[in-house]
Amino acid sequence: MQVAGKAKTLAAGWIEVGTLEDIPRLGARVVQTPDGDIAVFRTADDQVFALRDRCPHKGGPLSQGIVHGTRVACPLHDWKVHLDSGLAVEPDEGCAARFPVRIEGGTIYLSLAPEEGCPNK
Ligand code: FES
Repeated sequence: MQVAGKAKTLAAGWIEVGTLEDIPRLGARVVQTPDGDIAVFRTADDQVFALRDRCPHKGGPLSQGIVHGTRVACPLHDWKVHLDSGLAVEPDEGCAARFPVRIEGGTIYLSLAPEEGCPNK
């Protein structure tokens, strides 16, 4: 089968989120999915991470937190969560599910399949 013109084929389970410039540095963009919201974060040095938009403490919206380095501070009670692992910073415990992201030509792609390791999908 041929794909006409510029039609773009994404691997199953991946979606296009937008460009890097669509997300403010030290901020996030929310992607709504049938399984819940995913927060896509951009760090000061333009790394991009995606976590379930639900704090491991009491479900606060991590997307509304402030990014410091590769951590985000939850806006509700200030728990810190590692963006690269989804784990709460000690002494707090718990995790937010992490989702694979990749950047190609300035466009961000997000996998809707959470990575293994966190029971809070
Ligand atoms: S809900 Fe995030 S710190 Fe309490």
